[in-house]
Amino acid sequence: MSAATLRYRAPGRINLIGDHTDYNGGLVLPMAIDRACRVTATPNDRCSLRIHAVNTRGDFEQPLDGIATAKPRGDWSDYVVGVAVELLQAGFAVDQGLDLHIESDVPMGAGLSSSAAIEVATALALLGPERAMGSGAELAKLCQRAENNFAGTPCGIMDQFVVVHGRKGCAVRIDCRSLDYATVTLPDNMLVVAVNSMVKRELGASQYGIRRGQCEQATALLGLESLRDATLEQVSTLEDEVLRKRARHVVSENQRVEQFLGASTAQEMGRLLIGSHESLRDDYEVSCEELDYLVATALQIDGVYGARMTGGGFGGCTVNLIERSTFDHFASQIREKYKAQYGIDAQIFACEAAAGAGPD
Ligand code: GLA
Repeated sequence: MSAATLRYRAPGRINLIGDHTDYNGGLVLPMAIDRACRVTATPNDRCSLRIHAVNTRGDFEQPLDGIATAKPRGDWSDYVVGVAVELLQAGFAVDQGLDLHIESDVPMGAGLSSSAAIEVATALALLGPERAMGSGAELAKLCQRAENNFAGTPCGIMDQFVVVHGRKGCAVRIDCRSLDYATVTLPDNMLVVAVNSMVKRELGASQYGIRRGQCEQATALLGLESLRDATLEQVSTLEDEVLRKRARHVVSENQRVEQFLGASTAQEMGRLLIGSHESLRDDYEVSCEELDYLVATALQIDGVYGARMTGGGFGGCTVNLIERSTFDHFASQIREKYKAQYGIDAQIFACEAAAGAGPD
């Protein structure tokens, strides 16, 4: 690396519990994982961001003087250029030509926030060592805006926030309304395992926006500012069955996050994960056959406390809480059964909670 070359790392994340609550001002409990995106930035004299993405073998060159008027291309480069656009809008000059080399071992499209990792690592690389955002929350919000406005995904704040605020060995409880957060240690003997179904339903992208809209409708009908303030009794008065189910998921999921934090045994935590999955499957309707199969199968394996789909849904990963010593048995059982059922090789990996983004 030349003296001027700098490298930044931003982790992926897995959400333990609290899905589809973030954009409802609710509670989430994700952790940053020990898989990350790394962005190496080397100054160039081309007056452009020359981007090379190792994983997609993609190259793209964005002239600096065209950033303000850049248009999305509908691919991975949107996460990079979108961040540059938002930095400009936030008043940061983006006037240094850079070669950006992007490499990530966060599986893409698996619901582990590979895009948030690219955004945050890019933002740090473009800011450089001399400049910083006012706070981690501002950095996370800027990256969320890049995803909302440029990449066109109406995501909430959870992913970018935990990518910035992750702590080694800890999960992070985030109040997505106030953005207060606290780190939480998990029992030593408990291992968090991601199982990637390797499926991704295209439908997921449009359904995400539809779910957000339904939550807004339910909130308005209840005369509230946010579903965060709703009770299950209030929700039960909603006449529209679909809206009632959506709102019931959000309210009960917030309760499960609180209960998880208060739980004293791994068994109790596991039961809350199972409840979360059922609610996402039946009330929020964002699961899919393969995820349901992975969860049901996991629950039959010795040493498993609980399992559920994690993230947006319609494919991607399940999160499994298991007794640490049983990992090999768990992995071989899941692999074998999933392959026999769907002919697909699931990707299975243990997740250790990692630190949030920073210089590498
Ligand atoms: C995606 C979004 C997050 C969150 C989850 C569901 O990962 O990016 O903001 O809404 O779905 O919990």
